[in-house]
Amino acid sequence: MKNKYVLITGASSGLGYSLLKKFLKENYTILAHSRNKNSLADISKKEFKNIINITGDLSKRSTLTKLKLNYIKYKPSIIINNAGVYISEDFSNISEFQMERIFEVNFFAIIRFLKMIFLKLKNSNCLIININSISGLTGSHKESIYSASKHALKGFFESAQQEFLSKKINLLNIYPGAMKSKITKKRKTYTNLMSTSEVADIIFGMCTNYKSVRFGQVTLLRKKY
Ligand SMILES: NC(=O)c1ccc[n+]([C@@H]2O[C@H](COP(=O)([O-])OP(=O)(O)OC[C@H]3O[C@@H](n4cnc5c(N)ncnc54)[C@H](OP(=O)(O)O)[C@@H]3O)[C@@H](O)[C@H]2O)c1
Repeated sequence: MKNKYVLITGASSGLGYSLLKKFLKENYTILAHSRNKNSLADISKKEFKNIINITGDLSKRSTLTKLKLNYIKYKPSIIINNAGVYISEDFSNISEFQMERIFEVNFFAIIRFLKMIFLKLKNSNCLIININSISGLTGSHKESIYSASKHALKGFFESAQQEFLSKKINLLNIYPGAMKSKITKKRKTYTNLMSTSEVADIIFGMCTNYKSVRFGQVTLLRKKY
């Protein structure tokens, strides 16, 4: 029987937290990565029994090593690369440090982690879900670096798809439009955005309720503007 472990990065807030709640409700054990130790503080004691908390900044190799060791120990059948940094700013105002940080978290952390566990992933039938963004498909005003980091992720996974599939590693790339989270809090349109819990429900359905259908790339947009 398939194990019921899922690894979620950035599980402390927004979509990651909604995914954590959804998978918990469906009786999964969660390898929940969060940047800080106390960020899952409002989870009940009962729920916490099914959470293995892995903490650390994803731009640090030590955090990726922790993720690797937990992957090897628990062999989750699903990995959700959700953590991400967003910045809405003119390119001229973005510092080199910010540029590097965005690429470190949104791109390099994901592929470094994959590289670290690749031999173990082979033939595992693991499903890797990458939370990309509509900004990974088209560029937007004030999103040059964020959009570039998400385009890099798209390019990587599209190129690696055949190789991964031949090694029984499944990929699902999700491209959501704007959702209600820390990232969008200040937008005038905030109240009209998709909720992270509805997006989490859809992702859960896609990654667990299919037999022979494979979803490669999925765009999720709100119905009303
Ligand atoms: N919200 C949107 O409109 C939208 C649209 C399309 C795609 N997305 C993507 O959806 C994903 C989730 O974003 P969200 O909207 O749920 O935003 P969020 O609430 O800000 O969640 C982002 C998560 O990533 C974590 N994170 C950020 N930098 C990190 C680092 N250096 N090391 C470790 N963890 C780090 C955050 O941890 P902390 O809590 O410690 O900050 C948080 O758990 C991201 O990949 C984002 O690009 C969002």
